[in-house]
Amino acid sequence: MLLFSTDIDGTVHDGADAAARFAAFWLQTRRIPSPPLLVYNTGRSLDDTLSLIRRTALPAPDFIIAGVGTEIYNCANEQILTNWHQELAVGWDLDKVKRVILEQIEGIEAQPPECQNPFKCSWFWHDRDTADLDRLCQLLQETGLDAQVIYSSSRDLDILPQKANKGNAIHWLVQWLGIPLEQVVVAGDSGNDASMLLLEGVTGILVGNAEEALLEAAAAGNPIRVSGSCADGVINALRPMLEKSFAPEGVHTGTKYP
Ligand code: GLC
Ligand code: MG
Repeated sequence: MLLFSTDIDGTVHDGADAAARFAAFWLQTRRIPSPPLLVYNTGRSLDDTLSLIRRTALPAPDFIIAGVGTEIYNCANEQILTNWHQELAVGWDLDKVKRVILEQIEGIEAQPPECQNPFKCSWFWHDRDTADLDRLCQLLQETGLDAQVIYSSSRDLDILPQKANKGNAIHWLVQWLGIPLEQVVVAGDSGNDASMLLLEGVTGILVGNAEEALLEAAAAGNPIRVSGSCADGVINALRPMLEKSFAPEGVHTGTKYP
């Protein structure tokens, strides 16, 4: 494993304790040669993610993919990778998306301004089923909008450019870094994680608390379903992988993970 791309909420953080347990585990990986890169891949905005990392024990990552794949941030030089935005802009019309939703969809409410960005149009839309989502996709298509619809936690609706999602963003980033997908491990718990878990070649982890809809959506990616909720599930899945990847055959390194 050269890179670990993980969702935050419900996957390595559901409060201070889970974050601290993940941090203690991740710290151990720093002692081994060529430790994997850490990428947080979250629906939160970049500012919100940076603030959460400052406020909690969550380990400092190498990159942050924020806003469901709409922002990629290099923590080493504190720069946003703007080339990604040039790709997202193709065929995207934020004002038109907003107009269509407001005019045509009932019972929908815009998420607060801090959850929006030029490539992410997010709403609260409670307890919708696949037929509702299919109708919405059809409506966007009929209006000539090249957009994708991502539904999480039976509540959060993200409308994004066709190219933007957590999976496409991490794929773009690892290509940029020259890391093959076979060396990438991803983890998640809700609908917006499906695109990561479905990437061909990656090893996917579904934590014990993963929502039912994600189990179905990600099934084709054959993810590992671990026992243990949130950070405990991630640790249970990563521990054997790291011990395997980093201990050369027949050599006992003595490295043990908590
Ligand atoms: C996070 C974001 C929200 C988004 C949700 C699902 O909660 O804050 O805007 O809709 O993730 O992707
Ligand atoms: Mg989550």
